[in-house]
Amino acid sequence: MENQPNAPANAQTQAMAAAFSGVQSRYQGAIRNVTTRLEILDDEFSVEHRRNPIHAIQSRMKTIPSIMEKLRRRGLEVSVPSAVANLTDIAGVRVVCAYIHDIYTVANLLTRQDDVRVVRVRDYIQNPKPNGYRSLHIVLEIPVYLREGAVRVPVEVQLRTIAMDFWASLEHSLRYKAPDSLPENISAELLQTATDIAVLDERMQRIHDKLEQSSRPG
Ligand code: GTP
Ligand code: MG
Repeated sequence: MENQPNAPANAQTQAMAAAFSGVQSRYQGAIRNVTTRLEILDDEFSVEHRRNPIHAIQSRMKTIPSIMEKLRRRGLEVSVPSAVANLTDIAGVRVVCAYIHDIYTVANLLTRQDDVRVVRVRDYIQNPKPNGYRSLHIVLEIPVYLREGAVRVPVEVQLRTIAMDFWASLEHSLRYKAPDSLPENISAELLQTATDIAVLDERMQRIHDKLEQSSRPG
């Protein structure tokens, strides 16, 4: 997942980084925890169905400069307690799935686990962003056991197909090159590519479903 390159650290950033080291392990633990749950679900599915619904799992911790930038942008106090209280995407896990249906299968299996609490769901597949962005975003809270006991830690899980990931990755890097905003005609063309990709995703799903049906015994 995209991480901003480290900007030269000023005194405030350094102080923030020092304070953050006290809570860093809970976010790292949460990322590992969610990643392991996903790998187990993928293994189990692949034994039964002889294919993997999950193509790749990526994860990242939000960098200190980007935590500070987001707090500032939202008009919140720039401190570690404020980040812990207000930001739900310090720990991020991206799940790239083979097919659209796999996204919902994996999301349902993960969110129905007893100790997982769903904080927020944003379905940008059913409701794509105006620019064409598609993914299923779920903020979870999972328990991480530290010396002091269990703490509930938020993790932002983004689920998307290989095709959606292709689009989001290229769109992100194109937008990065045009820091102000993309020219109108380019935005329109990008939106069209997102729509084209969505059509392909649905066709691939239908091809998969047909093959699955025809290879089913009886
Ligand atoms: P943030 O302040 O950016 O976290 O917005 P938000 O809390 O409303 O979160 P949202 O669910 O809209 O999405 C946040 C994350 O989703 C971003 O950090 C990106 O990883 C991804 N994302 C959202 N919109 C886009 C988009 O238009 N293009 C790309 N490439 N990624 C996006
Ligand atoms: Mg967010």
